[in-house]
Amino acid sequence: MSPTTPVVAIYPGSFDPITRGHEDIARRTLRVADEVIIAVAHSPSTDKRNLFTPDERVQLINEVFADDDRVRAESFGGLLVDFARDRQAIFVIRGLRAISDFEYELQMAQMNHELWPEIETLFLVPEVDYSFLSSSLVREVASLGGDVSRFVSPPVLAALKEKFDG
Ligand code: PNS
Repeated sequence: MSPTTPVVAIYPGSFDPITRGHEDIARRTLRVADEVIIAVAHSPSTDKRNLFTPDERVQLINEVFADDDRVRAESFGGLLVDFARDRQAIFVIRGLRAISDFEYELQMAQMNHELWPEIETLFLVPEVDYSFLSSSLVREVASLGGDVSRFVSPPVLAALKEKFDG
């Protein structure tokens, strides 16, 4: 890698939808990487269970980060390490909110490293205000008519309203 090669980090997840907690992690990533690709995972089995389609999730993320060309979203199928290798990423970023996240995250990091030893997983800790936040809670609260405007950015709020209010 030459000294001018940009450092690319992949931040993978479901992002159904992206929350302010995810946004915080993506912005923190820019302290260690030049570019962040927010990678929306999709597969035939998970797509059926999701509220937003992969394309909708990608579009929402790109709207949220429209003011920062260092962050962009893409969807991927198949193995994360293959996508990361293809994009010449050297880091996989995951947010750690609580100790309960740790076991699953450790297993994934170790498996990804087995599959492609060139990749390093970095765990970043979100702002404490977001430590309880998850996409599934946002979906549930929004579906029951609760106010989620503190937890998601305006484009996501509008998209949730559209899904639930029609
Ligand atoms: O937000 P999530 O649902 O916790 O994200 C999980 C995700 C998408 C990062 C993980 O399931 C993943 O990497 N899927 C892609 C398929 C893959 O590479 N599986 C092996 C991971 S060890």
